[in-house]
Amino acid sequence: MNHTTMPSLQERYRKTKERLEAFGQSHILTFWESLDDSRRENLLAQCETLPLELLKREIAASPETNTKSPFSIVDIQPVSIVRSHLLDTAKYLALGEKMISSGRVACCTVAGGQGTRLGWNGPKGTFPATPLLQKPLFQVFAESILAARRRWHGNIPWYLMTSPLNHQATQDFFREHNWFELGEKTVRFFAQGTLPSLSLDGKILLASHDSIALNPDGHGGAIRALAASGSLAEMQREGVDTLSYFQVDNPLVKAVDPLFLGLHTAHPESSSEVSSKVVAKRDPSEKVGVFCRLHNRTVVLEYSDLPAHLAEATHHDGGLIHSAGSIAIHAFSRDFLQRIADDGHGLPLHRALKKVASIDLSSGIVIEPTSPNAIKMEAFIFDAVPIARQSMVFETRRDEEFAPIKNADGEDSAATSQRAQSERAARWMESCGIKLPRDEEGGECSATIELSPLTALDAAELAQCANLPHNVAIGAKIVL
Ligand code: UD1
Repeated sequence: MNHTTMPSLQERYRKTKERLEAFGQSHILTFWESLDDSRRENLLAQCETLPLELLKREIAASPETNTKSPFSIVDIQPVSIVRSHLLDTAKYLALGEKMISSGRVACCTVAGGQGTRLGWNGPKGTFPATPLLQKPLFQVFAESILAARRRWHGNIPWYLMTSPLNHQATQDFFREHNWFELGEKTVRFFAQGTLPSLSLDGKILLASHDSIALNPDGHGGAIRALAASGSLAEMQREGVDTLSYFQVDNPLVKAVDPLFLGLHTAHPESSSEVSSKVVAKRDPSEKVGVFCRLHNRTVVLEYSDLPAHLAEATHHDGGLIHSAGSIAIHAFSRDFLQRIADDGHGLPLHRALKKVASIDLSSGIVIEPTSPNAIKMEAFIFDAVPIARQSMVFETRRDEEFAPIKNADGEDSAATSQRAQSERAARWMESCGIKLPRDEEGGECSATIELSPLTALDAAELAQCANLPHNVAIGAKIVL
């Protein structure tokens, strides 16, 4: 903007005040008179980007709706699941491979979370994930993408969503590691947006006199951020029409899976808008979202929203009725994401009651609450599923594709994930005819094996590997 046409601070203040008043939020400007110009600038910049139109419903909502799911949970039915043993997999595999080699596929990883449960100080993708070399999660995904690029000769750009809290640290990490050989242009960072925390009566909270209490807007913010950062437009220019989406916490993920991509594009149960992978839930209390049918739509009910009696309901044979556990791996069409972004309403917001330190407006000092005083809001990417005309749910094997690192210890920890990574490598080696030490038939392998995606993306590729060991001792450590 030309300097002479730039609105003055006072002019911007006036406009902002008017807009805030229209939404009952002008208290944000309480301390305006005491601020110097740079702090005024700071506050205005935050106010001007507040998505107040999006928040209108949340601001007006009563506190009782705080933690409820955006869906009313009645009449839930199990979802129809596509399984590979019933398919002509060769046809879909060939189609997916063609999509990759012709540059139609990009990866998208959401890495904006704070990894609080893991207790890791830094972006979660920098967490040491592999069993022997302790490679960080980001490196595992980078190697998987690089290996796919070499195998199918596609470009495969990688869109990585950060949050304002870890954007710089994530970029620095990739630079320090030379983008893990992918090349600077392949790894494309985009930051998710933020949403303000609200008081229980719907007022936006201040973190200081010149700043709003903001939190990242959830992985559902990826859609808005992909559009706002110009990434969707860039994909269109480059001929990318399909995104392979996964979370930062699962080192067993197939970053690019031609079979899944082929199914997404051509299976009769898919509208090619969004497809998702599921595994059978481990037990009723496993903390995964569940795919089900609600009002003739496929939806994902988050574990915290699924009532216990439904989570525990079983068929006659004892199997869980709602067993389609989400592993948060999706294929999205670029057009579908663009349509949601253009729609302007965004995805529904989930509300959580939290403790948020904030400024008391009458005294001007920060209050550290002792009980939950605020509503934080987040959008979840899987709420895009019911928006699709039709969406395909594909079941895969947990031991092949899902071993997330979420907790410092116990279930879904680095220890359980590393064991699963090693076990998958062991199974692949055994399918190549290599004898491995196991306590008993079908028991755990006593060797620890680390297999890089650059060596093999699947058992068939491993069979081509020239330097596989033939005699593996009890307790051996093998890096391939
Ligand atoms: C998530 C899913 C759950 C699924 C499970 C599979 C949600 C709400 N639930 O649970 O349905 O079964 O994974 O492992 O997602 N993230 C951002 N920005 C944010 C918040 C999160 O990028 O603002 C990213 C995180 O970095 C992470 C992912 O989203 O990669 C998942 O977030 P997390 O809160 O850990 O979800 P889970 O409870 O593990």
